[in-house]
Amino acid sequence: MKTKLGPMPLIYPIPIALAGANVEGRANFATIGDCGVMGLRPPLVYISLHKNHHTTRGVLENGTFSINFPPTELLSLTDYCGIVSGKQVDKSALFDIFYGELGSAPMIEACRSNLECRVEKEFSIEARHIFVGRVEQTYVDEDCLEEKDGKPVLPDMRKLDPIIYALDNRYYRIGKPIGVGYEEGKKHRSG
Ligand SMILES: Cc1cc2nc3c(=O)[nH]c(=O)nc-3n(C[C@H](O)[C@H](O)[C@H](O)COP(=O)(O)O)c2cc1C
Repeated sequence: MKTKLGPMPLIYPIPIALAGANVEGRANFATIGDCGVMGLRPPLVYISLHKNHHTTRGVLENGTFSINFPPTELLSLTDYCGIVSGKQVDKSALFDIFYGELGSAPMIEACRSNLECRVEKEFSIEARHIFVGRVEQTYVDEDCLEEKDGKPVLPDMRKLDPIIYALDNRYYRIGKPIGVGYEEGKKHRSG
């Protein structure tokens, strides 16, 4: 039996990120669950920000933003960034910050992966601004990368240790890998 919960955007799991933007020259970060991938080639992502957020002002001002993925040890600081606004609190002082190729998208050193994005498209719907960003550069902590033929390739998700959120308002961490992509399904091939 299925129970109807009413309409809700129940897409699980929700990775938690810190969206970063410069507002009048000062870095600011907002906790977000509403972000995702729009395509691999070209590398497009989106973030959905309430129109009144301080961070939204910064993205509109510069046309750039960052998406920073905090590890679980940054849980309380990450939650704090979702409770207070840069309008009242200087959140730039919470982290060591670096800038990349775009020069205006602040990124957090202590986050193990950071996406530096340029706004490609922007539109508003209801109370949200949706920013579609082209990823201009991707930064990953060296010790989170797996090596292939002696070269660093993609990160090991267990080492990134991302914070996962659910609509029950609880935070989680990821579990163990359970299979290999484009392989597990082959057993159902006929012939
Ligand atoms: C777990 C969590 C998830 C959140 N997700 C979003 C989100 O996806 N979009 C959004 O606009 N605000 C989201 N918020 C709220 C903002 O982070 C919060 O209002 C923040 O204070 C905005 O900061 P700013 O005004 O400095 O930009 C979330 C907060 C928490 C704690």
